[in-house]
Amino acid sequence: MINIAVLGYGTVGSGVVEVINTNYDSIAKKAGEEINIKYVLDLRDFPGDPIQEKIVHDFDVIINDPEVKIVVEVMGGVEPAFTFTKRALESGKSVCTSNKELVAKHGVELLEIARAKNINYLFEASCGGGIPIIRVLNSSLTADEIDEITGILNGTTNYILTEMSANGSDFEEVLKDAQNKGYAERNPEADVEGYDACRKIAILSSLAFGRSVNYEEVYTEGITKITAADIKYANDMKTSIKLLATSRKVGDKFYAMVSPVMIDGTSPLFSVNGVFNAVFVHGNVLGDAMFYGSGAGKLPTASAVVADVVDEAKHLNRNIMMHWSSKKLDLMDISQVEGRFFVRVQGTPEEKADRVKTLFGDVQIRQLADLPGEFGFVTPVMTEAQYQEKAGQLDGIISMIRARI
Ligand code: HSE
Repeated sequence: MINIAVLGYGTVGSGVVEVINTNYDSIAKKAGEEINIKYVLDLRDFPGDPIQEKIVHDFDVIINDPEVKIVVEVMGGVEPAFTFTKRALESGKSVCTSNKELVAKHGVELLEIARAKNINYLFEASCGGGIPIIRVLNSSLTADEIDEITGILNGTTNYILTEMSANGSDFEEVLKDAQNKGYAERNPEADVEGYDACRKIAILSSLAFGRSVNYEEVYTEGITKITAADIKYANDMKTSIKLLATSRKVGDKFYAMVSPVMIDGTSPLFSVNGVFNAVFVHGNVLGDAMFYGSGAGKLPTASAVVADVVDEAKHLNRNIMMHWSSKKLDLMDISQVEGRFFVRVQGTPEEKADRVKTLFGDVQIRQLADLPGEFGFVTPVMTEAQYQEKAGQLDGIISMIRARI
């Protein structure tokens, strides 16, 4: 029997307990031993809940118990999760987590402690919830040099954009509805401003490219400025607007960014709707692959966490090598990144089409009957700097959305 401790009895922590109880026998077969939850650390008590007999309030109880071999950190946030994780690893206990903030900020340091101690720090649930992607990058795609990862990595924003597209509603209206239904957090900033997706793409890029991507250097734009009018154009053009987190190798340089992007039916991410997540990966020998599934929620996330517990149980005294060095990956300045841009402009094509074409080339102008007094167009491929330079010479730009169409 392998004893584990769970730090945090919130949504994911209670999910971990539920998954282990539900699939106790099959998990034991796959791990080679029964997994026993010996402690659950939480500040609160849960009278009436059978979990109460395992509840402890003092982390030292766990750290000082040599029977505990695996610690499941599902507290979220950087502190005290970082201190607890470090102490657990230093005392020879493997740790697994769903905590993307902590992995993005201190992952490489924690991996190094685990390596030195010949134990493991695993974080499958930190990106894409229940979708296997960390293990895929670390174990399955090792024959490839990966040159692109593009993901829909945030369920909340994908749900909001899907609803906006289906109902023609504005961002604020859908956000309120999503909060009332419990799909979006009361404080939705990390999701809607793209910070959550930013941390996830930094983690995936660090593993894919083998060097540390500093999430603070990833250009990040959320979905708060996307309007019902933007979506009308997208629908008219048979495209959809998704919050994409992407990192790419261009020649010998790399870039990473999070932003709303207009994509069409040729993209495998086009049909990823609602709270689902998907990660598209391109490898130089594999070609294209995509991983799709439940990117958030109690049981999908707990499923990934418990899979890490099983892996750690199978590798109790053996470090699973992770391809993530502390050497920093320098990212290209975003101004040099190339792409196309969908632009909305105030005025009529009669007044402004010539100016637009002089600046951007022979673009196709789009006008919608129910949006008089404005029009839209998609630029040819150019760098962000070139776009900014041309846009600065055109009066009345309402909005710009990057386009991969
Ligand atoms: N807030 C996150 C999301 C939860 O909406 O995807 C999973 O990390």
